[in-house]
This record gives sequence, C-alpha cells and structure tokens, in this order.
Amino acid sequence: TGAWVEACAKDDIETEDVIRFDHGGRTYAIYRSPDDEFFATDGICTHEHALLSDGLVLDEIIECPKHNGRFDYRTGQAKGAPVCVDLKTFPVKVEGDKVFIQLG
Ligand code: FES
Repeated sequence: TGAWVEACAKDDIETEDVIRFDHGGRTYAIYRSPDDEFFATDGICTHEHALLSDGLVLDEIIECPKHNGRFDYRTGQAKGAPVCVDLKTFPVKVEGDKVFIQLG
C-alpha cells in the first residue's frame, strides 16, 4: 500500500465540490460530499483527457466537464455512456483540519 500524503486543508474544498491535487506527476481529484465526507479519485476522466476538478459535483456524482460523463466519486463507478471505465479511487482520512490521501 502507498504512502499517505497531505492533499489539502478541509476548508480548501467547499461542501459538494471538488479540487485538483497534483503529486508525483499524477493528478488527483479530492471531493467533499454534501454530508461532509471526503473522497479521492484519479483526476483525469477515463474517457478522454479532461480534468474532473473542472466538473460538477451533484450529490455523490462527478460530472465530467467535457462530455458530461458521470462517475460515483465514492466508488469510482462509471455511470454510463460515454464513460465505461471506472475511475480509480484512493483512501482518504481527515486529521484535524487536514485531508490526506493514500496513494495507490
Ligand atoms: Fe470525460 Fe468525455 S472526457 S466524458
């Protein structure tokens, strides 16, 4: 299993929003759900090259900004055309006001 890396502060992400996090040459997306839980996925859509942090969070769904593909950001599950490949997800923990993700 990978190392835990500090990604951001809790308050860097608004409720029901997503931010980009770059580390080690990879891009991740960190989410804050409507019920105030944190999640992390790959930052790039599995369909084409689009940054999910530019997308829209609706409940547990991230909608890609490019062709409106949708994923469940809690599980990475692709929710239908045009996306058919699931997103990779990463464990997240919150300590104090910091958000950490475990790299795969
Ligand atoms: Fe994300 Fe096409 S690039 S849906």
